Amino acid sequence: MWNSCRALAFRTPKTSLSSGTRISSGVLKQPLIRLFAAGGGGRVSSAVQDADLLSKTTEKGTTQQTKLDTNPPKGTRDFYPEDMRLRTWLFDHWRSVAKTYGFVEYDAPVLENESLYTRKAGEEVTQQLYNFVDKGDRNVALRPEMTPSLARMVMAKKGGLSLPLKWYSIPQCWRYERMTRGRRREHFQWNMDIWGVDGQQAEAELIAAMVTFFKNVGLTSDDVGIKVNSRLVIGEVLTELGIPEEKFAATCVLVDKLEKVPIDAIQGDLEELGLDRSVVEKLLDVLTTKSIESLKETLGADSEAVKQLSGFMDLCEAYEIQDWILFDASVVRGLAYYTGIVFEAFDRKGELRAIAGGGRYDKLLETFGGEPTPAAGFGFGDAVVVELLKERNVLPSFDSSGVDTVVFALSPEQYSAAIKVASTLRACGQSVDVILENKKPKWVFKHADRIGARFCAVIGADELEKGEVAIKNLDAGEQTSIKLDSLETWAEENQ
Ligand code: HAM
Repeated sequence: MWNSCRALAFRTPKTSLSSGTRISSGVLKQPLIRLFAAGGGGRVSSAVQDADLLSKTTEKGTTQQTKLDTNPPKGTRDFYPEDMRLRTWLFDHWRSVAKTYGFVEYDAPVLENESLYTRKAGEEVTQQLYNFVDKGDRNVALRPEMTPSLARMVMAKKGGLSLPLKWYSIPQCWRYERMTRGRRREHFQWNMDIWGVDGQQAEAELIAAMVTFFKNVGLTSDDVGIKVNSRLVIGEVLTELGIPEEKFAATCVLVDKLEKVPIDAIQGDLEELGLDRSVVEKLLDVLTTKSIESLKETLGADSEAVKQLSGFMDLCEAYEIQDWILFDASVVRGLAYYTGIVFEAFDRKGELRAIAGGGRYDKLLETFGGEPTPAAGFGFGDAVVVELLKERNVLPSFDSSGVDTVVFALSPEQYSAAIKVASTLRACGQSVDVILENKKPKWVFKHADRIGARFCAVIGADELEKGEVAIKNLDAGEQTSIKLDSLETWAEENQ
């Protein structure tokens, strides 16, 4: 649906113009937004309403008032201050864990060249692109994930980066998803990646960092588990069945789809790939293996997959995170570029979609024409984990605005003095909200209470005459008078 809309949307205006005609953004925009609205199948976007609003300009040049749709585009979110406090809290936890594990932060543009995502393995993520042609006729896309941008950045340095590198980022990612609980059209995704390490030490370090985050926010191994498998398992079965290596990535993507749909639904994909149904059935059989021990029986003691997984499990014991980890041969992950260990954090009650996912992707740089460089990492979305934290009741309260002191002048004559008090407290590091208008004390105290301030500093004529300020401790309900020249000491004592 999305692709066909896109093709129509971009071709119609172009073909209707003679060659060499410059296409104005208006020409492009009008049919585009209408088709998007129709293709989305949902409510009409505010952009369409804006276009309608323009068309309703009356003869006299005045516009008729059409009420603005105040919803953000479908699948996206507004962050009001209390939502923002929760988001900042989450990002702070992510950043703090990344720092504890020696990762450094990077970023890339949210808009990338579409070619960065044109992989031909039939992945969902490439079918869900928010892509368009920009005014310079370039095919661009909002990033659906960060890994290709990271690969591009590493490649751009042409070996100038000293490996191994441990980088993290918290990008907003865009996917034209079918919306379900915890799946949106934009999400923030904590990415942690290690480049230049080809052993499972990298995966173990990454998963240990993830576990540290879970522990730090109050979740336990009873709440969350991390399923681990290796794509080498599929690779070895395919080799045994004589299937050429170039079919590996697309087969993994197909097998991942079988988690969601019955095998009959992918018959067409199987034929396109030239795979016998029996091959997939054999794979599915191996993927029901319950332990590394029985995997050993199926694949043999020399199996690289078995060695890799056993080595990884030993490292998890060294990190003392084994309670969080379980081998699950059915975990394949839906991205084509994974080559080795893959993992997925999930809620043990089984009610939510995957909390986080990742794995090893040693060949991604090669697919871009770069040098083979081992890499592993994970992406951890903001949506599902917040659902889980709410459900487990472990989120702190975000009611308080973080303001320490509300400062107000009883009348306009004391306003300059109030500013001086506020400036002194701010210089001491306090968060201070000065009441900018002439308000009644009752209003001010109610306001201070609503925003969760700790103190209220009142400057009236009597106080000023004595060179003082009256400060009420809003938690204790006590009021004291503080000399203006002792304000700094008071602020230090009440950090
Ligand atoms: P992914 O499995 O596509 O991997 O996404 C990783 C995580 O991002 C998911 O487990 C989920 O938490 C979150 N996520 C994905 N799509 C959505 C959505 N529509 N709404 C809300 N949350 C979502 C990747 O993206 C890889 N690039 C991760 C990676 C980094 N692999 C190696 N390094």
